[in-house]
Amino acid sequence: MCAGGKGILAADESSSTIKKRFDAIGVESTFDNRRDYREMLFRSDEAMTKYISGVILFDETIRQKAKDGTPLVELIQKADSIPGIKVDAGAKPQPGAPGETITEGLDGLGGRLKEYYDLGARFAKWRAVIDIGAGIPSYTSLIANAQALARYAALCQEANIVPIVEPEVLMDGDHDIDRCYDVTEWVLKEVFQQLFYARIRLEGMVLKPNMIVPGMKSPKQVSYEQVAEKTVRVLKNCVPSAVPGIAFLSGGQSDEAATGHLDAMIKIGNLPWNLTFSYGRALQAAPQKAWSGKPENWGAGQAAFTHRAKMNYLAALGKWAA
Ligand code: 13P
Repeated sequence: MCAGGKGILAADESSSTIKKRFDAIGVESTFDNRRDYREMLFRSDEAMTKYISGVILFDETIRQKAKDGTPLVELIQKADSIPGIKVDAGAKPQPGAPGETITEGLDGLGGRLKEYYDLGARFAKWRAVIDIGAGIPSYTSLIANAQALARYAALCQEANIVPIVEPEVLMDGDHDIDRCYDVTEWVLKEVFQQLFYARIRLEGMVLKPNMIVPGMKSPKQVSYEQVAEKTVRVLKNCVPSAVPGIAFLSGGQSDEAATGHLDAMIKIGNLPWNLTFSYGRALQAAPQKAWSGKPENWGAGQAAFTHRAKMNYLAALGKWAA
């Protein structure tokens, strides 16, 4: 999932998130439009066969068929890519922790994983959301989210599904890069502690972390190399080398920054894990704009997706040039 420069396409936007993305390009979020858009991505042959190792799907998409009746899952498999599934039910306000969230979705998850396996999923994703603000994150929220991630990962491994463990420290806000470093370090320490208590086999999981970046509204923006150096440092301090793969989220970075940061990390060298991308927005913003819901833009949408996938593939090999 994380080797040889290939990375993961996060196409698992929930109904409300895909509506937001479609609103931005003036497209109504209908069942058929969502199908057409995702079919366009999954039929991008060059991108899917050469640069994309796996696709994270939403519940609707894993059951959906292409216009000609072929299951979308089959399009992904035919391109030698692995279907995956988002299984969390979203981040909800956490009682006792004002301004923070706890990710829900554990009830009945064992049964749902069995069904998803039968539908073709071989990996899953669960996202915990950690915000940075005055007095947050709190230990109350952190520990609850880390425990939920660990329980999810245990259920996945029991169902022969590889868990992607995603604790996302948001880049909203005006905090500087060092605050992002400190919070991410704390989050990763707690997550790996809980994974240990839950008896997770680290060799059979993928970590999906944020990079160490300043808040979007911080006046102190930094270079690709500084982000790379701090991100590699925090990972070396927190992530055991038994973890085979780390696939980053893009989290609101620009397309090019998400690529440049990954490339700069690989260029540091001597890393114990495979580093790659598991981007949603940084892979899809360009094709969404190029497509804009018009059938005649299908080729332009595929070209835009293929370009971003190729740039990130090159970055994951440390061969990208701005
Ligand atoms: P972004 O790359 O847009 O952050 O999405 C990745 C993802 O899967 C978030 O859960």
